[in-house]
Amino acid sequence: MERHLNDDSAYLQSFELFLENSTEHQSVKNFVHTTLPDILARIGAGESNLNVMGVGSGSGEIDLEILKLLREKHPDAKVENEVVEPSNDMLNKYRALLSKTPALEDVTFTWNKMTATEFEDEWKKRNSDKKMHFISLIQMLYYVKDPEATVSFYRSLLHKNGKILVILVTRESAWGRLMNVYKDQLAQEGATLHVTTTDVKSYLDSKKVPYQSYKFKSLLDITECFTPEDKKGEEILDLLTEVIDFSKTAPPELKDEVVEFLKNPINNLEVNGKILFDCSMEALLIDA
Ligand SMILES: C[S@@+](CC[C@H](N)C(=O)[O-])C[C@H]1O[C@@H](n2cnc3c(N)ncnc32)[C@H](O)[C@@H]1O
Repeated sequence: MERHLNDDSAYLQSFELFLENSTEHQSVKNFVHTTLPDILARIGAGESNLNVMGVGSGSGEIDLEILKLLREKHPDAKVENEVVEPSNDMLNKYRALLSKTPALEDVTFTWNKMTATEFEDEWKKRNSDKKMHFISLIQMLYYVKDPEATVSFYRSLLHKNGKILVILVTRESAWGRLMNVYKDQLAQEGATLHVTTTDVKSYLDSKKVPYQSYKFKSLLDITECFTPEDKKGEEILDLLTEVIDFSKTAPPELKDEVVEFLKNPINNLEVNGKILFDCSMEALLIDA
């Protein structure tokens, strides 16, 4: 089974299909606009320079939303944003979106086309003592080998009043359970596809690191997954399992089991003839 992430354009296409058919970005933006304004206002209060960072930022829709809020809260501060994102296609889309966002034209961007782990070496090379006020790790810890080590490294970059925002699916969500049930069959080298906020919270609790948690719903339309040979249905199976051509390359028993899992009414919601898969998420705002 070939890995999605090894193919930049396949991954981008799949991510776009996911966004088109789910409430993900709407839910995350809703969280950003209801919860983050006060937090962002406090984070850099009185400072003339604000350093922020997005890791696995994708095409930037969410990070730019956060930056716009930060700009509104601190109109006189100089804002510098580091972007860490390994996919060229994603970075190109991000830059295109930024060029259409005049509110951010005076923010300085540094583009790091690399993985979260590669950036750790890059940071050591820079030998910088810069501290970050806000770091976002949104829906990306699935793609690192050791999510706890990644959280720990990025936390070490925080300013004393800074925060890290981690968003992942919850363990209880249908997607979280799917990845957990099939973690061995779907495992991929260098990734931890089954990680959920439950894992991150137990790590934080064990280190006595304070954080706040916010849960929100997100649904993915999987109706077409039950029509044999349907192209869109097959592409949705690919994005759920992170495998290219899952329907054709997975062992047939695994494919049948995954489809049965999706079909099970405990894991979905039927609304107006559409089958919606539960991809509920949790946001953790972690202190320095
Ligand atoms: C599900 S997307 C989320 C994008 C964005 N944060 C959002 O919520 O819209 C995951 C992103 O992580 C990136 N990614 C994959 N492997 C990574 C790694 N090892 N380090 C950092 N980012 C990675 C992907 O290229 C992709 O842009």
